[in-house]
Amino acid sequence: MILNGQLPTSIAAAAKALQQGELLGLPTETVYGLAADAGNDAAVGKIFEAKGRPANHPLIVHVASAQEVTRFASSVPDFAQKLMDVFWPGPLTLILPRRPEVAAAAAGGQNSVGVRCPSHATAHAVLQAAQALGVYGVAAPSANLFGRVSPTTAAHVAGEFGEELLIIDGGACEVGIESSIVDCTRGQPVLLRPGVLTPEQLSQACGVTVMTPVMPQADAPRASGTLDSHYAPHATVRLMTAEQIQHALMTAPVAHARVAVWARSAVHVPETWAQQLTCNLMPTDALQCAHDLFAQLREFDAQGVTQIWVETPPSEVCWDGVRDRLTRAATPAG
Ligand code: TXA
Ligand code: MG
Repeated sequence: MILNGQLPTSIAAAAKALQQGELLGLPTETVYGLAADAGNDAAVGKIFEAKGRPANHPLIVHVASAQEVTRFASSVPDFAQKLMDVFWPGPLTLILPRRPEVAAAAAGGQNSVGVRCPSHATAHAVLQAAQALGVYGVAAPSANLFGRVSPTTAAHVAGEFGEELLIIDGGACEVGIESSIVDCTRGQPVLLRPGVLTPEQLSQACGVTVMTPVMPQADAPRASGTLDSHYAPHATVRLMTAEQIQHALMTAPVAHARVAVWARSAVHVPETWAQQLTCNLMPTDALQCAHDLFAQLREFDAQGVTQIWVETPPSEVCWDGVRDRLTRAATPAG
């Protein structure tokens, strides 16, 4: 059931569902989450089951304000506090040492916990209302089946989990890709997952250089967003330069597949392809592109496209989040 997030009755119903240990489709400014009470291990178990996600992959705990962090984290380094001061509420998740007695299931058994305070007004209202009912943290991974494209509208969430799930409609997500994740448990901040906040912005805010070994390390905490293949639509995604896209169109004798092109550069479509090809303009602005990315991949899937040819994003750091998601979407599973 999709409820209008503007209505106080919807907020109340959402908070009650969380209190009762049920799942909830929750809008945030990044992507929609599949939410449950982080303090209720059985409710958290339902998230893993619904997503088909391994139970040792930790979830992010969402809080109504920074004050709630110490309910879950046993300590907060100075640089983490500064990051919260500057970027919360907002698209930033901090990995902090976990209080051993709380949120073990949500943390996937790690001795750390991911915490985020979202800025979306509806998310905030739900978190506050839940808190008034004794739910102090809400565990929520992106509301998609494991390995699939994150949802940025309520309809996407219903498409993943069906209409039986209670979903709060908060409109299309403003950011469009998941939060930046900064590990604050290693003495120095480490960016585990790029989002729309650049390493420069993060470093400047906390006064310490944020390290950026984005690729997984052997000893790094598990992060499913750092598995090579992730965020994949059903269609095969290929990252290509504009020249490669043009060359492929000109040299393939006839359309051999239902192809969608998503490019910033102008592409000439030969007549032989016209029927079989969808050609959409990719935004030239990195933030706009992040906003459109997952919705665009889902739209191509819905059109029955079998291949998506995407123009490789520019190498500037502001494109890191988009480049990361596209590279993973283009990596075959297995
Ligand atoms: O924007 C977002 O972060 C969205 C919205 C719903 O808030 N959530 C999201 O959750 O993207 P999810 O589960 O799809 O991705 C969370 C990432 C995973 O890669 C997970 O492994 C990592 O955060 N993570 C969570 N807790 C962690 C921990 N204790 N140590 C290391 N990684 C952690
Ligand atoms: Mg996810």
